[in-house]
Amino acid sequence: MTSVLVTGGTGQLGRRVVRALAADGHTVRILSRSPAAPPVPGADVVVADLSTGAGLAQAVAGTTTIVHCATDPRRSGTVDVGGTERLLEAARDAGRPHVVYVSIVGVDRIPTEYYRSKLAAERTIEGFGLPWTVLRTTQFHDFVLQLLDRMTGLPVVPVPRGWRVQPIDVDEVARRLADAVAAEPAGRLPDLGGPEAFPVVELVRDRLRRTGRHRPVVKVPLPGASSAALRAGANLVPGNRSGGCTWRQFLDGRSPSQLLEG
Ligand SMILES: NC(=O)c1ccc[n+]([C@@H]2O[C@H](COP(=O)([O-])OP(=O)(O)OC[C@H]3O[C@@H](n4cnc5c(N)ncnc54)[C@H](OP(=O)(O)O)[C@@H]3O)[C@@H](O)[C@H]2O)c1
Repeated sequence: MTSVLVTGGTGQLGRRVVRALAADGHTVRILSRSPAAPPVPGADVVVADLSTGAGLAQAVAGTTTIVHCATDPRRSGTVDVGGTERLLEAARDAGRPHVVYVSIVGVDRIPTEYYRSKLAAERTIEGFGLPWTVLRTTQFHDFVLQLLDRMTGLPVVPVPRGWRVQPIDVDEVARRLADAVAAEPAGRLPDLGGPEAFPVVELVRDRLRRTGRHRPVVKVPLPGASSAALRAGANLVPGNRSGGCTWRQFLDGRSPSQLLEG
C-alpha cells in the first residue's frame, strides 16, 4: 500500500477520493489551508498553501503518490498554474511520487480563463519528469445542480442556445482516481463522461418543475469561441460513458429540503 497526499482533500471530489483511498487501505494525508479541516476518517491533515508554497515540503515528505484535486477558479493562475508548479517542485525534492491529476473534458478546446489554467497545469505535469496520470471528466452532478439553481433563481432564465451537459457521479470519478493510484502511471487516460448528455434547456425546465418555480425561459445565442465550442459538444464524451448514479437518480436521492438548497 502507498502513502498518498490528496490536495483539495476537503473539497467536493477530494473528500470522496480520501474515503476511497482509505477504504483501499492506503495511508492518506490531506493537504488543506486550514488546520481545522473537517476530519475524514482514516486521514491526517497537513496545512499548506499552494498559492504561496508554505508547508508544501512537509506535505509531500514521504508520499509515494499525490492526487492533485485542489483548485481555485477565481485565482486559477496563482493556485492551479503556479500552485501546481510549486507542488511538483516540492515533490521532486522529496523523491519521485506518482502525480495523479483530475482535469476537465474540453480544456484544450473551450478557451475560458479557468480552462486555460487547467490546460497549463496538465502541460506542466506532463513535462515535469515525474511519473503522471491525468483524467479529464465532465461536470459533477452537484456542480451542475448549483448552476441550474443559480440560473432558475433569476426572474427570467436565459439559457445559452445549443449547450449540452453530461453530468457525472462524483463518487465514480473518485473511484477512477483511486484506481489510478493503485495502477502504474498511465499518462492521459481516456476522457470520462457521465451516463447521459442533456440539453441545458431541458435540465432548466425540469428544475423549474421540480422546485415549483414559474419563470420564463429564453434561449440566447451566446457569441464567442467558448460558446461555439460548447455548442459543438467539446465538453462531452459520447464514446466513454461512466457507470455510477444517473442524473435522475441523483435528483431523486435528494430530500425535498435539499431541492432548493442545491
Ligand atoms: N466541479 C466539477 O464539476 C469538476 C468537473 C471536472 C473536473 N473537476 C476538477 O476536480 C477538482 C476538484 O474540484 P471540486 O469541485 O471538488 O473542488 P472544490 O470542492 O471547490 O474544492 C477545492 C479544494 O481546493 C483546495 N484549495 C483551494 N485553494 C487552495 C490553496 N491555495 N492551497 C491549497 N488548497 C487549496 C481547497 O482546500 P482548503 O479550502 O481546505 O484549503 C478545496 O479542498 C478540480 O481540479 C476541478 O477542476 C471539477
